[in-house]
Amino acid sequence: MLTREQIQELLQTITDPESGKSLIDLQLIRDIMIKEDRISLSIVCLDNEEHNRMELEQQVRDRLQEGGVDNVHIRLRDATDYERSLLRGTGSEEESPTKEEVKRKGHAAGMENHDLLNENSGVKFIAVASGKGGVGKSTVTVNLAVALARKGKKVGLIDADIYGFSIPDMMGIEEGPVVEEGIIIPVERFGVKVMSMGFFIRENSPVIWRGPMLGKMLRQFVGDVNWGELDYMLLDLPPGTGDVALDVHQMLPHSKEIIVTTPHATAAFVAARAGAMALQTDHEVIGVIENMSYYECSECGKKDYIFGRGGGARLAETLHTELLAQVPLGAPDNHISEPDFSPSVYKEESPTALLFAEVADKLIAKYEQS
Ligand SMILES: Nc1ncnc2c1ncn2[C@@H]1O[C@H](COP(=O)(O)OP(=O)(O)OP(=O)(O)O)[C@@H](O)[C@H]1O
Ligand SMILES: [Mg+2]
Repeated sequence: MLTREQIQELLQTITDPESGKSLIDLQLIRDIMIKEDRISLSIVCLDNEEHNRMELEQQVRDRLQEGGVDNVHIRLRDATDYERSLLRGTGSEEESPTKEEVKRKGHAAGMENHDLLNENSGVKFIAVASGKGGVGKSTVTVNLAVALARKGKKVGLIDADIYGFSIPDMMGIEEGPVVEEGIIIPVERFGVKVMSMGFFIRENSPVIWRGPMLGKMLRQFVGDVNWGELDYMLLDLPPGTGDVALDVHQMLPHSKEIIVTTPHATAAFVAARAGAMALQTDHEVIGVIENMSYYECSECGKKDYIFGRGGGARLAETLHTELLAQVPLGAPDNHISEPDFSPSVYKEESPTALLFAEVADKLIAKYEQS
C-alpha cells in the first residue's frame, strides 16, 4: 500500500485551475487515511461549478489508480470563508475580528455571546490535564463533553493541544468551522461545539508557533469565537506542564481541572506534577480519572489489571481529590460506514459511555451544589 507521502507525490501535479498551483501545495487535499487496501481523502473545493469539481475528483481518482489503488473514497467539500481568506493571504492576525467586534456582531446576529474570559460568565471551565502524553486525555475530554451534552448541557470543547491537536479526527469531524460576518462559529458534533487548531492547519503539516502566538491563539479560541450560550467549556490541554498549560492557567484562573492518569504507579507520580501545577496556580483539581485501568475479558468477564493497579486512587489521595472513574481498555465499537462514525466517541448505551455519564452526573452535582 502507498504511504501518505507517496500519495501526495502522485497528486502533486494536479492543479487548481484558477491559480495553476498544485492542490497539494495549496493543501487542499486533506484527511488522507490509508486503511488496508483503501484510501480515503477529502478535496477542499474552491470552485462551486459541479462540472469542475467532478473533473478534479476524476483526476485524483485516475492518478491514484495509476499508482495501483482502485479502492478510493473521495469526499468533496467547499472551502470555508476562513480557508479562502487564508489562501488569499488575507487571514492575517490584524484581520481577525476583535473581541468587541465579535460581541457586537454576535448580538447583531441575535446570539447570546458571553464574555467567556470573565469569571462571572457563568460558564464552568474544566481543563483536562495529564503528566505525560498518550494516557487518554483527549479521549476522556471528548467523552466527558459528549456525556455532558447527552445530559442536556450546552457544552464547548477547546482543543488546546495546539501542536498535537487531535479532537477533530477523534470526533470524526470532517468540516471546518463556518465564518459568519467575520465571526468563527464552532463546529458542532454530538451536541458539542468544538474549536481546534486542526481546522486551520492543513494536512498534517507541522505547526510552528512563536511563543507569544500560542497564548494569542488560545485567547482567540476562547474570546473571539461565537460560542453562543454555554454551561460547560472543556479544554483538552497538551500533556505535561509546558507553556500552553501555563497559559491556560493564567488566562483562566477560575478553571477547574481533571487529571488523567493510567493505573501504573510511575504514571501517577508524573501526573502528580500536573496536579501540583494546578494547585500552585490555584486551580482546583475536581478529580482524577484513571484510564486504561483494566481489560475485561469479553468471554468470562474477568478483569486483568495489565498496566498495574492503584495509581489513580493514590494520585487522588495525593491531590486531596476524588477518583471520578476507572475507564477500562477497549476502543469504541464504531464502524466506518455509520453516519455518525467517530473513532473515539463511545456509543451512548456502551458500558464505557455509561461510566462517563456517571462522571458527568458527579460534575453536575458538584457544580450545582456550590
Ligand atoms: N480506554 C481506552 N481503551 C483503549 N484505547 C484507548 C483508551 N483510551 C485511549 N485510548 C487510545 O490511546 C491513544 C492515546 O489516547 P489519547 O489520544 O486520548 O491520549 P492523550 O493523552 O490525549 O495523548 P496526547 O498526549 O498525544 O495528546 C489513542 O489511540 C486512543 O484511542
Ligand atoms: Mg491528546
